Amino acid sequence: MIGRKHPFFPHLEAMLEAAHLARGIHAYYLERGFTQGTKSGPTDLVTQADREAEEAIKDLLLSRFPEAGFLGEEGGSAGGKALRFIVDPLDGTVNYAHGFPFYGVSLALEVGGAVQVGVVMDTARGEAFYAVRGEGAYLGGRPLRVTERGELLGSLLATGFPYDVAKDPENLTYFSRALRKGLLVRRPGAAALDLAYVAAGRLDGFWEVKLNPWDVAAGWLLVEEAGGKVTDLEGQPYRLGHRYILASNGRIHEALRRTLLGQD
Ligand code: IPD
Ligand code: CA
Ligand code: CA
Repeated sequence: MIGRKHPFFPHLEAMLEAAHLARGIHAYYLERGFTQGTKSGPTDLVTQADREAEEAIKDLLLSRFPEAGFLGEEGGSAGGKALRFIVDPLDGTVNYAHGFPFYGVSLALEVGGAVQVGVVMDTARGEAFYAVRGEGAYLGGRPLRVTERGELLGSLLATGFPYDVAKDPENLTYFSRALRKGLLVRRPGAAALDLAYVAAGRLDGFWEVKLNPWDVAAGWLLVEEAGGKVTDLEGQPYRLGHRYILASNGRIHEALRRTLLGQD
């Protein structure tokens, strides 16, 4: 558990509170119905729940930490970068809009360029995954640990596709290479939860192309704090905003990386 005296304990507490607030907003609009629009294309949706959740999260976090900056997917950016919250108010919007219960909220606290606290909540199930750098990753009060599987064949993997995959089909090549090797690959539709599932040992690995900082900042820390590995496709340490992310239990990492690149 994370001690109350830890310097980021107040931030973690506020982020968990914000995640619960988002859960209430997601549930409210799912029950009552919501308006929706599109962003980059006809399948890139944004709903009232995305927008209202972001506003509520931003208000809560900036009222508690007025010195902090904020980067939110729906445009709610403010302040500087020395200490900032990076938020996806609804990850898995397409799932949400269809009532497919795999979506959530992702909140990260970045300090001096490094993510220090991460919270990912599955707002359909109410599972709250969180991590503080150097203090481990947890689900509720239970410590999380990645799997120990060492064989790629038989590992459970996940990926996802950007909304413009038809124009930029790079990940179809990787996906196809994985399937042609007989690997087990899922496409759940919420990258933050996919990463939380790697941390929780429900998936052995995950990769994706073209994710944004708000999709991955919290889940990245969850995986590392649960003993896993996160790199780009060259095997270099992951950096926020990088085009590629590959997260795994560490043991299958190199084999998966080589398979995706067609080197095996
Ligand atoms: C999307 C989800 C999806 C991933 C997409 C993301 P959104 O986020 O994380 O799993 O494949 O690339 O854009 O739009 O639902 O917040
Ligand atoms: Ca997202
Ligand atoms: Ca989103």
